[in-house]
Amino acid sequence: PARPTPASVDVGSLAEAPAQAADCRRCPLWEPATQTVWGEGPEDARLMFIGEQPGDAEDLTGRPFVGPAGALLDRAFADATIDRAAAYLTNAVKHFRFEQRGKVRLHKRPDAGHVRACHVWLQQELATVRPDTVVCLGATAAAAVFGNAFKLTQERGRWHTLGNGVRAMATVHPAWVLRQPPAARESAYRGLVADLLSLSSGGP
Ligand code: URA
Repeated sequence: PARPTPASVDVGSLAEAPAQAADCRRCPLWEPATQTVWGEGPEDARLMFIGEQPGDAEDLTGRPFVGPAGALLDRAFADATIDRAAAYLTNAVKHFRFEQRGKVRLHKRPDAGHVRACHVWLQQELATVRPDTVVCLGATAAAAVFGNAFKLTQERGRWHTLGNGVRAMATVHPAWVLRQPPAARESAYRGLVADLLSLSSGGP
């Protein structure tokens, strides 16, 4: 049977949405994944961070940003004096996409179709949390919020106003910082922190 389009799906309140999303079959990623990883944070958070997709640790625990990328993000939050507990953290895609190599599950980037299929859930989170400020971590989240033409290398750290008055920007993904060769990692990290520091100073 044809899948319903995102607009035709009646998603309920944020309280009901995780249970609905837990059974999501809108794209094939649900099948190999352990579980849907829903966003986490206060329903009235002013600040929302959007990542790419759960990683291995997130898939197993069911919580966003609890693995190595999450640890780096926590450090960046501390350096930028951002209170993680006051923010809402979620992902553009809510199932882990991976390639099995022996016992190891290798992260595989979600494609545009997965982002599109999952968009209804992100819209649900944006519509119910109604943050003032959205920070996209990496190109996948940026594409989900700003569209596929968005160029992270050119636009990172720059503030934009979304149609609904929300200020939004994109910065690099913490996993990208971790993937940098040792000599480049510190400056990549400092760049992430600098972008996060503009939360208190920058913006329209
Ligand atoms: N990377 C992401 O984009 N999100 C997570 O939740 C964890 C790692």
